[in-house]
Amino acid sequence: MSEETAEILEWSSMDAADVSQIAAVRVVAFEVKEEDAVSNYAERLHSIRSGHTGSPETSTRCAVVRIDGKIIATADSFLRRIATPAGPLRVLALAGVACLPQHRGNGYGRRVARTMLQRVDQRAFDLSLFQTGVAPFYEKLGCRLVSNRFVNSLADDPAANPWWNPQVMIYPAAAGWPDGTIDLLGPGY
Ligand SMILES: CC(C)(COP(=O)(O)OP(=O)(O)OC[C@H]1O[C@@H](n2cnc3c(N)ncnc32)[C@H](O)[C@@H]1OP(=O)(O)O)[C@@H](O)C(=O)NCCC(=O)NCCS
Repeated sequence: MSEETAEILEWSSMDAADVSQIAAVRVVAFEVKEEDAVSNYAERLHSIRSGHTGSPETSTRCAVVRIDGKIIATADSFLRRIATPAGPLRVLALAGVACLPQHRGNGYGRRVARTMLQRVDQRAFDLSLFQTGVAPFYEKLGCRLVSNRFVNSLADDPAANPWWNPQVMIYPAAAGWPDGTIDLLGPGY
């Protein structure tokens, strides 16, 4: 029988073998098409994710599920400060939610996404904000769609939409969320 384990890894102390396995899951799940996709993706991912030096409660983490030691599902979360018409918010940025195709439909995606969203329940963040192409998956986890205009005032084109997925969601669904323009104060994730 295969052995299944769930863990939360810290990006600041991730070992190279785990970074490479996480990249391999995402290259397949997100259909990344480029030469040396896994090693390039792993390098980018590590440099983007490992730099965070915030408080332990808001550190950049990755929830993983392993089967027989091999990572098959992943989800990242990290702190982003955003500006809204109702004032600044500390949001849990959720990204890299992915499961290898051959393991889908077994609750692994839900498990890693929920593990990361639970950091909001623990009050380290005001709420979670993220983009997605699979809103019904997140609705089942207690998230809801929002329809604000989003910008990144720090970008070369400060009026452009910083997201590349069609839908944007928050967690929990019942969180107070303002109307109007939301400034991500950085790139989409
Ligand atoms: C989205 C993804 C992570 C789901 O992983 P998974 O392990 O198959 O999902 P789960 O088995 O945990 O599904 C949990 C629930 O969500 C539903 N669900 C899963 N994928 C769904 C989808 N694409 N659309 C709608 N519902 C979905 C399941 O039917 C299940 O519902 P149930 O509780 O009523 O049975 C996986 O399909 C994936 O890696 N997709 C490609 C990458 C991607 O789009 N990631 C999301 C980026 S925001």
